[in-house]
Amino acid sequence: MSQPQAAVGASVARVDARLRVTGKAKYAGDNNPDGVVHAVIVDSRVGLGRITGVDAAAALAQPGVLTVISHLNAPKLPPVQSNGYPPGTPLRAFQDDKVRFFGQPVAVVVATTLEVAQHAASLVQVSYDAERPSTDLRAAPPADNPETYARGDADRALSSADVKLDLTFQMARQHHNAMEPAGIVARWDGDKLTIWEKCQAVQYSGFSMAAEFGISPENVHVISPVVGGAFGNAFRTWVHSVIAAIAARRVERPVKLVLTRRQLYFGIGYRPAYSYGLRMGSDRRGHLTAAVHDVNSETSTYETHLEDTLVPGRMLYSTPNVKQTHRSVPLDVNTPTWMRGPGYSTGAYPLESAMDELAHELGIDPIELRLRNEPADDQSNGLPFSTRRLRECYTTGALEFDWKRRNSRPGSTRDGDWYVGMGMAAGVYDTQRAASQASVRLNADGTALVQSGTSDMGPGTATSMTQVAADALGLTMRRVIFRLGDSTMPPAAGHFGSQTMASVGSAVQDGCDKLRKEAIALAVKDEGSALHGADPADVEVRGGRLYATDEPARGETYQRLLSRNKRAYLEVLGSWAPPEGAARYSLYAYAATFAEVAVHARLGLVRVRRMLGVYDAGRIISPALADSQALGAMIGGLGAALLEHTVTDHRDGRIVNANFADYLVPSHADIPDIRAVYLADGEDLVADPIGVKGLAEIVCIGVTPAISNAVFNATGRRIRQLPITPELLL
Ligand code: MOS
Repeated sequence: MSQPQAAVGASVARVDARLRVTGKAKYAGDNNPDGVVHAVIVDSRVGLGRITGVDAAAALAQPGVLTVISHLNAPKLPPVQSNGYPPGTPLRAFQDDKVRFFGQPVAVVVATTLEVAQHAASLVQVSYDAERPSTDLRAAPPADNPETYARGDADRALSSADVKLDLTFQMARQHHNAMEPAGIVARWDGDKLTIWEKCQAVQYSGFSMAAEFGISPENVHVISPVVGGAFGNAFRTWVHSVIAAIAARRVERPVKLVLTRRQLYFGIGYRPAYSYGLRMGSDRRGHLTAAVHDVNSETSTYETHLEDTLVPGRMLYSTPNVKQTHRSVPLDVNTPTWMRGPGYSTGAYPLESAMDELAHELGIDPIELRLRNEPADDQSNGLPFSTRRLRECYTTGALEFDWKRRNSRPGSTRDGDWYVGMGMAAGVYDTQRAASQASVRLNADGTALVQSGTSDMGPGTATSMTQVAADALGLTMRRVIFRLGDSTMPPAAGHFGSQTMASVGSAVQDGCDKLRKEAIALAVKDEGSALHGADPADVEVRGGRLYATDEPARGETYQRLLSRNKRAYLEVLGSWAPPEGAARYSLYAYAATFAEVAVHARLGLVRVRRMLGVYDAGRIISPALADSQALGAMIGGLGAALLEHTVTDHRDGRIVNANFADYLVPSHADIPDIRAVYLADGEDLVADPIGVKGLAEIVCIGVTPAISNAVFNATGRRIRQLPITPELLL
């Protein structure tokens, strides 16, 4: 008894489009509860050391200043344990005199207006006993607890390989730079805390805040219905949120705290810098025999952020012998965090660059080389793939991108002053899922309200969930309202790890299926219903009308059914959770990305001319939203490949380009013709009941190596570092 699918798979407008484009959407910092006052953080101007004094007299003398809080007068907070990720101890708000990184909050000023708070913050005199920080990944020793993986005997296989590569790649640190800055409004009512916070996971945020203050999670209400982009940086509770809550308690008024653009560079994490050593061996026909990965990435001194960077290298290609080591390098920096396609996009860059180098060395087409190394199963765990259609991604992409026009001899295609070349790369991202619930209420007026405590950092969760709900209930999308972003709603997956559609979508479908069946059961038992006595399995709902599939004229609307039965509404709780126990399948989404670039012969400037992404991501619920994700991710990848680079002055640890002018991101003029293709009939029902594998991250994985490989094809120059800036090509 499946339902007709009208909304799922259709390119629909976002349900919250008008709200967002008319400026009516209320982001965290737009909330102004009665009596709200403003907080501004004073951040450290040294990169390591101790605070020897805080002179707040001038700040406190300003009319309108309510308080200045630092470690000298902050409340003692209970000890807090890491809840698994990341290992270590989170940075606490004003609990000691230590400065751990440049930009660490050292005081907060609260005033009745933002302007007074900003001015007063500039008057706070903090003195330091400063030391020279260690902030250079390549100059500092790694920690002693590497993550390792091995199968076979990689060293031996490498030494006897026909063809050997020994490569080192450097990847710059990148910051998320979302449109909406991190911000929060915090209000205490007795021992109950309400926060309007920019976050990707309302319930997780509630737990973290509760732990910071030693209160029960039920006493924290998190409200976050709209978010203006996050890309991973709003998953955790960062210290500024705790500072806002401390300030609100001190002044006994709601406090608003929004980080400045500059403060976003050390307040909310970033994609860590990497140094990636990769040795690879193959036989003459291009079959990989061995790979040795030696990886270093930066973390803070107080927490260890390690990503799944090694995964592509152990499962993307058939490779009998693999040895991997990933070491964190503790530096005097704030803790990095997940950023779009975390780990996997970083790991795909060296791997896919090396595959391109190997293809060139052997004179084999890069796609052919990859096809020769397609594994039969997941060699990292021996599990069968749920679905893996990477071959189709390659062949579809080659056709659509006109790959046969690529000249395999580098530096041989010229267009005036420009060298032109093509490159491609594969990508992989794991299909993550988490237990989720959704409440579904069908009202007597034939409208439905679906609610789930998930989040939406921007890509349109409410829209895709409305599509799933509308079809399962047999309603038009207009009659369904989906709400999210409130910690009092049914618990659900947060909005990260590309897991939302699979997890929450399956719970929404479960709830709507249950509710529809309840309505059908009510009708077939009801003597007043045209459907009385019908077999429930033969009843469908479309446009809010229940009808017998073998006799469509026989039926009635939800409204009539509910009003005759004197029911104001029907309500159910839907839920879904991934199966417990050991995994039986290897679950991943796959991508093939293609790029054509032009490199200026004398200026070294790289212009991307075309890009194409082909995805095996399971069923696509919302094609228009999928395109927003995919095109946005390819643009992000272009930025990572050619522009984005956080620069630190290692003398004192300051980030010298902590602003939108000096940290370069792609603008419209940088963006070429980009297209995304999703393999048809892609549903993966092993992954979840709605057949999706997750899209948000896979679309950005493989973009940087595709561009880098195109630069090689254009110029014959191998640049093994990101971003590929013009001076590297001179
Ligand atoms: Mo995504 S980096 O898990 O927000």
